[in-house]
Amino acid sequence: MSDTKANRRYRSQEWFDNPNNPGMTALYLERYQNQAFTRGELQADKPIIGIAQTGSDLVPCNKIHVFLMDRIKAGIRDGGGIPLEFPVHPIQETGKRPTAALDRNLQYLSLVEVLHGYPIDGVVLTTGCDKTTPAMLMGAATVDLPAIALNGGPMLDGWHKGKRAGSGTAIWEGRRLLATGEIDYEEFMQMACASSPSLGHCNTMGTASTMNALAEALGMTLPGAAAIPAPFRERMEMAYLTGRRAVEMVEEDLKPSDILTRAAFENAIKVNTAIGGSTNAPPHLQALARHAGVALHVTDWETVGHALPLLVNMQPAGEYLGESFFRAGGVPAVMGELFAAGLLDGSVMTASGKPLSDALEGARSRDEDVIRPVARPMRENAGFAVLSGNLFDSALMKTSVISEDFRRRFLKDNQYEGRAVVFEGPEDYHERVNDPDLAVGEDSILFIRGVGCVGYPGSAEVVNMQPPDALIRDGIKHLPTVGDGRQSGTSESPSILNASPEAVVGGGLAYLKTGDRVKLDLNEGTLNALVPEAEWEARKAAWIAPELHHQTPWQEMYRRHVGQLADGGCLELATAYQRIAKDLPRD
Ligand code: FES
Ligand code: MG
Repeated sequence: MSDTKANRRYRSQEWFDNPNNPGMTALYLERYQNQAFTRGELQADKPIIGIAQTGSDLVPCNKIHVFLMDRIKAGIRDGGGIPLEFPVHPIQETGKRPTAALDRNLQYLSLVEVLHGYPIDGVVLTTGCDKTTPAMLMGAATVDLPAIALNGGPMLDGWHKGKRAGSGTAIWEGRRLLATGEIDYEEFMQMACASSPSLGHCNTMGTASTMNALAEALGMTLPGAAAIPAPFRERMEMAYLTGRRAVEMVEEDLKPSDILTRAAFENAIKVNTAIGGSTNAPPHLQALARHAGVALHVTDWETVGHALPLLVNMQPAGEYLGESFFRAGGVPAVMGELFAAGLLDGSVMTASGKPLSDALEGARSRDEDVIRPVARPMRENAGFAVLSGNLFDSALMKTSVISEDFRRRFLKDNQYEGRAVVFEGPEDYHERVNDPDLAVGEDSILFIRGVGCVGYPGSAEVVNMQPPDALIRDGIKHLPTVGDGRQSGTSESPSILNASPEAVVGGGLAYLKTGDRVKLDLNEGTLNALVPEAEWEARKAAWIAPELHHQTPWQEMYRRHVGQLADGGCLELATAYQRIAKDLPRD
C-alpha cells in the first residue's frame, strides 16, 4: 500500500492521459469515449475497474452475473471508479467437450492478456462454475493488480419426491436407480431437472461451492460472499459492495500478492476439510499457489488438512444443500468455529482491507445441525489422504465420504487387497464393465487410465466408476476405484484419484494389467501393484507411449505445456510470469 490518492497516477492514465505520446493517447481516448464515457471520465483522476464477465448463455452456472452487472457497476461508480465490463473465454463444466478442465488454463490466459494489455487499474472477478473460480484467481495472481472475486452463488435447493435433490449428487443417484431398474429414462431426466431449479452454480458442496468457499477463505472476496444463493437479495447487495470495494482496493494498492500468502493457503486447506470440499480443490489451489509464487505441495493436504474435523452437513458428504448452508452462516460461520478453536491464522490480510480475524470475531454457526461446532463434528480427521506407491508418486483419497458400508466391505484394519480391472478411458469402461467375461466382482479394484491432463486431454471426471449393474442390484454401491483423472466434486465415491504422473507420460499406472493383485494400505498411505520387481521393470522397458490425437490447436498447445495434477495442471511456462502488471506493455 503506497501513494495517497493526491499524488498517484493510475495505470490507465498511461493509455488515456499521456502527453508524452499524444498520437496513441488520442486513439485510445476517442474510441473509448464514443461509447458510454465522456472524455472527462476517462482522463479524470478516477481508476478504471475491469469486470471480468464469465457468465453468458453458454455458461448458465455463471449467468446470474449478467443480472448482477448493474449492481457491480453501481458500486464501482458510487466508489468513484469507472466500470469496464469485458468477456473472458467461457467455461461451462457441463457443456464443454472433451473437458471443461482443458479450458481452465485458456480462461486464465485470456484474463492475463486482457488485464495486462488494457487500461485497467483493478478488477472484479466474476466466479461460479468449477473452473471459472481458479482460472480468475490464477490470472489475477499472475498480473497482480488489485482484484476481488464475486461468485454468482449456488442455485436454490432442488427437491424431488419430497427429498432434497442436489446438483450432481442427484445424477449419480439417478444413474444407480436407472441401473437397478427402479426408475426409467423419463423419471431420471425429471429428477435431473428438479435438481436444478434456478440460476446459480451447483448447490451441493461440489467443486463450485468448494472453490468459492476457498476464495473467501483465502481472503479474495468480501466476508460472507460465497454462500449467498444466486437469486437472494443479499447476492445483489454483495455485488454492489464488491464493486465499491474494488475501487478502494486500487486506492489502497491492495493486491493479490498481499493476500495470497502461505498462511492464507493453509487456512484454505483447513476450511476445505471442514466443509467436506471437493477433490478438485488441491490441483486448483496448487495452480493458484504456483502463479502467486507461494510454496505449496500436494502432501500439504494431508499434513495441514487431514487432522481437521468435517463441520458442514452438506451433500455429498452430508444431507443439506446451499440454502441451509447460507442460513446457518456460510463460510464465516465455518471459519468462526475453526478460529474459536484456535485452528486458523486470523492475522492474514483480506480483500476487505482488514485482517481475517476481524470478520471472524463472533461469527458462529446459527444452526448446529447444518454447521457443527468443532466439539461435535460430523467426522474427525476428515481431510484427504495423500497416497503413493509404485502406481503413482501421489494420489488423493477423500476419506470424509468413505461410508460405513464401504469400510466394512473393503477396509479391514484400513487395508484392502483386490484384483485390478483396468480400463483405457471412459469409453472402454462403458463398453466392457457389464461384460461377464471381465468378471468384475466384490474383490475387484477398478482402474481407469489415460484420463489425466495430457491423456484426455484436460483430465476428465471419470474415476468415480460405478460397479457393474449386477453388483449394484446385489447392493454394492461402490467398488474401490483408482485413476489418473479426477472425479466430480459432487460425487460421494471414495475414489483414489488425481494420480500423478499420469499413465500416458509413463506414470506407474501405465504398467498395470487386469488380473494383477493390488494392495491399499491407508495406515501407510500406500497403494501398490503386487507385481515382482523384475516383471514390473520388464513391463516398463517394453512400454511405448501412446500416440495422442489432437482435435484442435489448443489441445495440442495445452498438451505440450501442461504439467501434472499434483503440480496444479498449470501451463508450466506460465508459472515463470509473476506480478507482471509492473511491466507496462509497449505503447
Ligand atoms: Fe457449473 Fe456445477 S456444473 S457449478
Ligand atoms: Mg465437475
